[in-house]
Amino acid sequence: MTSAPTEFHDRMLSLGLARVSEAAALASARLVGRGDEKAADQAAVDAMRRQLNMLDIQGCVVIGEGERDEAPMLYIGEEVGTGTGPAVDIALDPLEGTTLTAKDFPNALTVIAMAPRNTMLHAPDVYMDKLAIGPGYAPDTVTMDMTPAERVRALAKAKGCEPADISVCVLERPRHEAMIADLRSTGAAIRLIMDGDVAGVIHCAEPGLTGIDMYMGSGGAPEGVLAAAALKCMGGQIYGRLMFRNDDEKGRAARAGITDLDKVYTRDEMVQGDVIFAATGVTDGSIVRGIRTEPGWVTTDTLLMRSKTGSVRRMSYRSPL
Ligand code: FBP
Repeated sequence: MTSAPTEFHDRMLSLGLARVSEAAALASARLVGRGDEKAADQAAVDAMRRQLNMLDIQGCVVIGEGERDEAPMLYIGEEVGTGTGPAVDIALDPLEGTTLTAKDFPNALTVIAMAPRNTMLHAPDVYMDKLAIGPGYAPDTVTMDMTPAERVRALAKAKGCEPADISVCVLERPRHEAMIADLRSTGAAIRLIMDGDVAGVIHCAEPGLTGIDMYMGSGGAPEGVLAAAALKCMGGQIYGRLMFRNDDEKGRAARAGITDLDKVYTRDEMVQGDVIFAATGVTDGSIVRGIRTEPGWVTTDTLLMRSKTGSVRRMSYRSPL
């Protein structure tokens, strides 16, 4: 029996998603280390949009470059794709780590996730307080109600190790100083990252590879949903609570249809159904390698994953220059 072309064929769609992610990385790669965040982001946005519009989907950007009046391309609500095929939600960050790219620091990625229509949280562009751990732990092993030190001790108990053996990834920001001091009181190791908390959260899913057990702290809410999509594929838990600094930010939530401003979202509330996720390395990182060029060729590494099967592919793509 053949299925309708409007069904969410995650298997068929996934290669297309990898192409979108690769195209954005290839475009921004030319701007690695050039000190121009805006140009790098713009190149990624243009390339991602161009590729996305080649896919046979009725796509709607739910996590994008911003609200319509502030982002001319890939804004929230923009329709993408050819307009035939399944109706899908698209969450994207064409360049996650614009400063990392401009300064040629590690872990800059292009990121995109796709899911059936109306299954991803329409997170407004505000901050989100995040807490994530990898697979293999019981639900609520760590919670948002615990202090940072309590989370370390709870995770160490569940892992069967000492708190000092736990490693936590945190964005280095003045607003995290108290949290970092509390974490240090347990003896836990802290990996401070300059930017890029989607990669920060993904690190928790593969502690053997990355050395990271837990991620915590505040960062962009859109990045929180993208990270939830990644963990839905790889396993692991993430909790997120939106943070509002003023009425304008509360207005953003209202426009996104959010009424409970204090809610703690679980991974499966941020991404309710099946999802596919692709991320391509722009600069080298612990999850994927960055773009490599050699005379006549350019090579990208992409992480391509499906939640339905839990499959995690690392794909290398070489293209003539
Ligand atoms: P950009 O790529 O848009 O610069 O975002 C990078 C990032 O580090 C995100 O990964 C993170 O969620 C957010 O910025 C944190 O925001 P802030 O820099 O305001 O602390």
